[in-house]
Amino acid sequence: MKRIGLKAAILALVASTVSIVSALAGDSAAVRNCTWCHGADAQGYTVAPRLAGQRPQYIMKQIQSFHEHTRNNPFSRQYMWNAVAALSQYDARDLANYFATIPPKPANDGDSALAVKGKQIFMDGIPEANIVSCYACHGPNGEGVRDIPRLGGLAYFYVKARLEQWGQGYHSTLGSPMPLVANHLGPEEIEALASYLSFVK
Ligand code: HEC
Ligand code: HEC
Repeated sequence: MKRIGLKAAILALVASTVSIVSALAGDSAAVRNCTWCHGADAQGYTVAPRLAGQRPQYIMKQIQSFHEHTRNNPFSRQYMWNAVAALSQYDARDLANYFATIPPKPANDGDSALAVKGKQIFMDGIPEANIVSCYACHGPNGEGVRDIPRLGGLAYFYVKARLEQWGQGYHSTLGSPMPLVANHLGPEEIEALASYLSFVK
């Protein structure tokens, strides 16, 4: 009897997960509210970054930071503060889980001549310039983990702007190590890193 009970519980759990996923099929209104800016399959479009394959915990944390206006760079103010103003925590979680399951495509839009230097900085940092390796937190292929975002394949202009904006004093989430990390990066390092990352699968 006990076994049957457990089986039924597991089946119920699977069924409820399936219904969440199917409620958020790509053509649902909730998803379209995001993809009309973030592009088909959430692969990114103009200034709106790719969400496909992004870590769900990272997406949820960023939604919260738009909600609380902690993430305060110009495009966040202009586009995202409004886009999440009426979003409940449950909807945010469902959307984050849905976007995380879409296989991400690399933007491939960086300068390929700078990618070798970018990879070197990503893997080893530049100790004499106080530049830490990105690999240590973001993983060997920039795949991210938990609330540390996937960077591999993000668009060149998006990554470049993010790294510049931390240096300019804009914030994303409280307690983020990124302002300190980015403070030591010069324009050449930023271009090299953003170029390299755009090609990473
Ligand atoms: C009007 C256009 C627009 C709409 C609608 C929109 N976004 Fe965005 N979103 C943007 C832009 C532009 C950015 C980049 C902000 C920046 O440059 O820092 C962004 C950034 C984000 C980020 C941060 C990604 C990262 O890698 O840090 C998340 C998460 C996000 N949006 C989720 C959503 C969700 C979920 C929805 C639907 C509820 C949505 N967006 C709707 C334009 C939009
Ligand atoms: C100590 C851990 C740590 C190190 C080292 C680190 N990062 Fe991060 N990074 C994070 C965390 C955590 C976030 C998310 C927090 C936030 O939003 O501010 C993040 C966010 C980012 C983002 C934003 C991605 C997006 O989708 O908007 C970029 C770009 C980035 N890091 C690039 C780098 C680069 C390049 C390096 C190496 C020079 C680096 N990081 C080193 C922890 C780290």
